[in-house]
Amino acid sequence: MRELNSVQCVSGSSCDMRAKASDMHSKDCVKVAVRVRPFNKRERDAGSRCIISLVSTSISIQDPRDCHNRRSFCFDYAYWSHSGFTRDQTGLFVPKELGGRYADQHSVFQDLGVGILENALQGYNATLLAYGQTGSGKSYSMVGYGPNKGLVPKLCDRLFEAIREHQENRQCQVFFSMLEIYNEQVVDLLSRGSRSAAGLRVREELQRGFYVEGLRKIPCENALQVEQLMEQGTRTRTTAATQMNANSSRSHMLIILQLKQIFSKESITKQSNINLVDLAGSERQRSSGSEADRLKEGTAINLSLTTLGNVISALADIAVGKKVVHIPYRDSVLTKLLQSALGGNSRTVMIATLSPADICYEESLSTLRYAERAKRIQNRAVVNESPTERLVKELKAENARLLQKLSRMDQEGRRATDESKELRQLLTQNELQIRAIQTLWEQHLQEALKDWEQQYANITQERRMMQMYPYILNINEDAQLSGVVKLFIQEGEWGIGLCDSAPRSISIKGLGIQEHHAVFRNEQRRVTLTPLTGSKVIVNGNAVYETAELQHLDRLILGSNCTYLFVGYPSERGGEDWGRYDYDYFQSELAAAEGIHLSESSTGCSQTDPSLLAVFYDYIQLMPMVAEANQMSQELSKGVEFKLEIKNLALSDSRGHDLQKDTVVRVTSAGSKQVWMWSKAKFVNRKFLMEEVYQQFKAAQHEDNRVECLPAVVLPRDKDPFWDPVEPLLLGTAHLWLQSLAFRIPLEEQLEVLGSEGTEEAILQAQLIPCTSTGLPLGEDDILIDPSEVLGRRLDFQLVLDQCCGVRWIREARNRGIQIGFRVFDCGELLYTPAVWHNINPLLDHRVQFTSLQTSQRLLDYLQSSAVVLELWGLQEGCSVLSSSLGAVRMTAEGSFIIDMLDPQATLSDSAELSCSVRALQQDLEKLKSLNESLRKENHSLREQLNTVKNGGDGVRGRSLRPSCDAEFARALKVFYHSMTSVRGQLQRLRRHRPSEESDLLGLRLFVDEQSRLLRDFSEQLEDSVSTLKQDIAAIVRRKRERSGIWS
Ligand SMILES: Nc1ncnc2c1ncn2[C@@H]1O[C@H](COP(=O)(O)OP(=O)(O)O)[C@@H](O)[C@H]1O
Ligand SMILES: [Mg+2]
Repeated sequence: MRELNSVQCVSGSSCDMRAKASDMHSKDCVKVAVRVRPFNKRERDAGSRCIISLVSTSISIQDPRDCHNRRSFCFDYAYWSHSGFTRDQTGLFVPKELGGRYADQHSVFQDLGVGILENALQGYNATLLAYGQTGSGKSYSMVGYGPNKGLVPKLCDRLFEAIREHQENRQCQVFFSMLEIYNEQVVDLLSRGSRSAAGLRVREELQRGFYVEGLRKIPCENALQVEQLMEQGTRTRTTAATQMNANSSRSHMLIILQLKQIFSKESITKQSNINLVDLAGSERQRSSGSEADRLKEGTAINLSLTTLGNVISALADIAVGKKVVHIPYRDSVLTKLLQSALGGNSRTVMIATLSPADICYEESLSTLRYAERAKRIQNRAVVNESPTERLVKELKAENARLLQKLSRMDQEGRRATDESKELRQLLTQNELQIRAIQTLWEQHLQEALKDWEQQYANITQERRMMQMYPYILNINEDAQLSGVVKLFIQEGEWGIGLCDSAPRSISIKGLGIQEHHAVFRNEQRRVTLTPLTGSKVIVNGNAVYETAELQHLDRLILGSNCTYLFVGYPSERGGEDWGRYDYDYFQSELAAAEGIHLSESSTGCSQTDPSLLAVFYDYIQLMPMVAEANQMSQELSKGVEFKLEIKNLALSDSRGHDLQKDTVVRVTSAGSKQVWMWSKAKFVNRKFLMEEVYQQFKAAQHEDNRVECLPAVVLPRDKDPFWDPVEPLLLGTAHLWLQSLAFRIPLEEQLEVLGSEGTEEAILQAQLIPCTSTGLPLGEDDILIDPSEVLGRRLDFQLVLDQCCGVRWIREARNRGIQIGFRVFDCGELLYTPAVWHNINPLLDHRVQFTSLQTSQRLLDYLQSSAVVLELWGLQEGCSVLSSSLGAVRMTAEGSFIIDMLDPQATLSDSAELSCSVRALQQDLEKLKSLNESLRKENHSLREQLNTVKNGGDGVRGRSLRPSCDAEFARALKVFYHSMTSVRGQLQRLRRHRPSEESDLLGLRLFVDEQSRLLRDFSEQLEDSVSTLKQDIAAIVRRKRERSGIWS
């Protein structure tokens, strides 16, 4: 029993560890630091604004959409690494001037790293967590890039320095482990053997707490060894990620340093665990307000991260005195392993990393809130001390006693008695135990040394090869995993593909990689690449089907998404910066080949619409994921195809303003012709679930040892990420402008229904008919010269949807149908026409009457400046028909929809601000009304004059002439109005005018500028013609008046 215990202690568990009472620290709060990184390329391109400011340790964040909304937080440390830095000749980022505010890696380490190290040396457990959205700088802070070493390597440097300094009074042992948690599975990143599919098990022991069973712990004697282990771990992580089609931003990386200090004089051993955690990206896939996914968020995606959040919340609640029944440590792998770091025996530091860009506002704010909660957590750290050394001493003392006893027995001549036999046995046992305790570390080291030698040999070999041969270098979405794998192309012919045992082959794994994928030929120092039948090979953005010669720094994509940079012979390598060929570069190049451009030449032009840029980056981010989803669908025989689209690219709202653009995924089922539209969030969630299904399928395939092409993977629908219940789809919209109603002029139009990307989906025949309350159409006599005459009066009109022609949706599949949806002014609900099926030119014959009981200025403004947006909805077999719930709609006795149901005074009075602006508006309105009134009076008197003068007092003629005089006006107006409609139509066409396929960012910008100038001109023309009309009318009036003057 004793032996078991002691051996366990030596091998590093914390059993028998106990706290010295004097070292009991009542409470340690988790220390929290925040760090703001520089803008990245995307953010610079987008002309991002910095919304974060720092003063001392307090940090403020500004809502980019609301200048009054600024939130401040205070933390233990706050680091400004956003600006004020320069790169020195060794590549280090340092403050521009001495004492500048820029926080470099060194100063961050001085504050956080040194503290952690001191804690560990004192015998406390210590934990460092990096939290923040993907790309915010977690890995930069934790691990670092190139010469800008992060906390982990710096900490190791300093740790071994400290060990050397203290070697007089203590012997130190350091064990290094590195693991990854992905989808709740633990992967040992230093494991040599093949990984088990299910990952390592997390177990619990009473004294030891949770630990990873079978995790490799490698003894290290210097910082270089640690660095190499980290490199090895990163490489494993990279290959595992491509192999399993996994996304590193969703995995947590843990480095565990076990430090054991043996103080021989004091006969104590102190042991501390240092956990260094680079957490998964904190961004949650918000279901952008609209739909929540039918299938739960891929539950395991961030189970660890979500649970970490829950644990932190619970602990923060406890800290402020709230009653908390349960802290859900056991709910996830990460929280099990970090249990002592959170609310337990550890000194813990969290570094929260932030992007300073306006577009990251939501995420940054959420990170700050998270950090704020974390800083309330209270731990109870204790020095971990073990009696191991004392045990050795005791054993030695006991042996000395035993020896004495034996020799005494010898002298007494009592040889070979039972007692002496027992004593000897005990003696050897004790000796073995002592030796075990003392030699274990040495043995570990010896074993590790062999590994080191192998490692060194590999590294030197790789360095040599790099100077001899061309190679391909992996490029990963995560910069931390880029450039980790080098595959050499030596002279001759080399196959590349899954084939791992074939001679002269380079083995790679990944989605869409075939057994024999392509062939490299390296002859006379020229390298060519030949795709093999059916395999996907893309060079510099373009698919290649025949042999292509490779140039230094060509970009290769093999299969769905294995990205490599080709590095030519050393003689071809200049001093160019390879760094620019990052993952974004690859994807932008691909997008460009698809006709989606947005290239380099952006500096200096800050006018690019940031929202458009955001969509572009969404697009290129989703592109590889869509390729992967298509590949999985194909391999699983799901018959589902995914295609990226930009929503609202060509659509505008009821006032003609552009709608917010968004990237969406169109999902089409080849067999049933069903179509779905998924939001980005939904697609990302589904993609994760697809990966799970795909992994299971692969594992099953592997087990059964079956080859390719299984029948379609059948999943119950409630678990199938490739499937959804069908829903009506918004196919496109048409605008029916309402201005004619303000003049009570009827309107008949053939409207083009435009799809999201500007395609013509159908032609819609629609009418607007001003009418009486009973629905009788008004005549020309009722046309208003001055629209304000309707103010305060009842207004009725009908919207008639006659027919839809050439409906593309139905042309594509006859089993489909359509409906038109529309909303008018304040009429609460979206109204729909009945569904019509199977007809390319469906007759709608739908007539709705709307009534304004008391026309307000607001309604008049609406009529003059807005359109009814007619939405064309596509129905498919099995989906339910759209219907409006008429609960919130008021109707007249005649069955007409009342559109101005809101009494502005009643609804707005609750908000002081609003009522204030309403008052101002009302004053304006009063002024306008009185102006209007006087104009009307003038008008009236003019008419009177006209009548009396023209008719010379002839009552009969007068009566007949008055309307004809109005009719003259009216006709002029009508003609003019119709010309305006065509102007508007032209304007719409102009708006849809698209840039050429080839234009780059600059071209796009020029196009946009040109177009908006044209638009301005056009609308000015429109205004001009309106004012000309007004002038004309005034002239007519004047003429009449003059005539009346002459006649009178
Ligand atoms: N403080 C910083 N100074 C300079 N560059 C940084 C800093 N923080 C992050 N970066 C850069 O931003 C990019 C993303 O950072 P990274 O640490 O990989 O993000 P994360 O690990 O949070 O996803 C990297 O290219 C990195 O070099
Ligand atoms: Mg990272």
